[in-house]
Amino acid sequence: MTDFDAYERDLWAGRAGAYERGFARLTARAIGPLLDTAGVTEDSRVLDLGTGPGLVAAEASRRGAKVSAVDADPQMAETAARNAPAAEVRVAVLPDLPYEDETFDAVVGNFVINHVGEPETTLKELRRLLRPGGRLALTCWVMPGSGVLAVVRDAMEEVGVPWPDDVPLSPFMEHGRPDAFAALVGGVFREAAVEHLDWDFAFDPGEWWENVATARVGSNGLVLSQQDPPTVARVKDAYYRRLAPFTGENGEVSFPAHALLARGLR
Ligand SMILES: C[S@@+](CC[C@H](N)C(=O)[O-])C[C@H]1O[C@@H](n2cnc3c(N)ncnc32)[C@H](O)[C@@H]1O
Repeated sequence: MTDFDAYERDLWAGRAGAYERGFARLTARAIGPLLDTAGVTEDSRVLDLGTGPGLVAAEASRRGAKVSAVDADPQMAETAARNAPAAEVRVAVLPDLPYEDETFDAVVGNFVINHVGEPETTLKELRRLLRPGGRLALTCWVMPGSGVLAVVRDAMEEVGVPWPDDVPLSPFMEHGRPDAFAALVGGVFREAAVEHLDWDFAFDPGEWWENVATARVGSNGLVLSQQDPPTVARVKDAYYRRLAPFTGENGEVSFPAHALLARGLR
């Protein structure tokens, strides 16, 4: 396990409920394109990686697929089992998965590959699990983060909060561009290609702030939780200033989100 993987285990521990209420609403937009890209239909044998609250697994089950799902975090796996009752859910940690060679027709991961310490080793493991001709589909954020993903971090930068040395950046930082992501997947899979997924994410700014800052979801939430109350208040002001041009009369924000969707063939 790399230092980054150890950091990730702590980052997600105890966050399943907050993630389900907040970020899972953002990542849900990619579920349809992800499953379409992996060719998930009735009777497909599908593995959902880093399933989190299990919304990808639930949608694959709804399509009639036979679904397995894994997450490194036990509380996430419990939440997934509740939300995707037809799926077989296990606690398992990439890059080592407890399945036989060539078990699946499709392997999908929604915003997970950017959370593993060893992306290349992980891709080789995913290839092992796919049958010949099986399909891989993975999403990640465009990196460095932008749009809604960066709004809290940008607010912290604006007020001069330094990024702590002990909060690592994802090793995926260097792969979060279309060419780089395609080259990474293409190193292990055939017919690798990457497309942009861009959408506007509508949210209540107060709820989103609570989710990141108080419920401490994600690295930005972690860094914010280490600041003193006056600094947090200044960051919160900067956050609302940044959202103002994107806020409607009803107070709801609609802010752009920028992701990448990679495909590959075994
Ligand atoms: C950003 S969340 C994505 C959750 C979900 N796929 C979605 O669509 O919102 C990342 C998830 O990956 C899990 N995860 C991170 N590293 C992992 C690893 N090495 N192996 C398995 N799961 C991992 C985390 O516990 C977390 O649930």
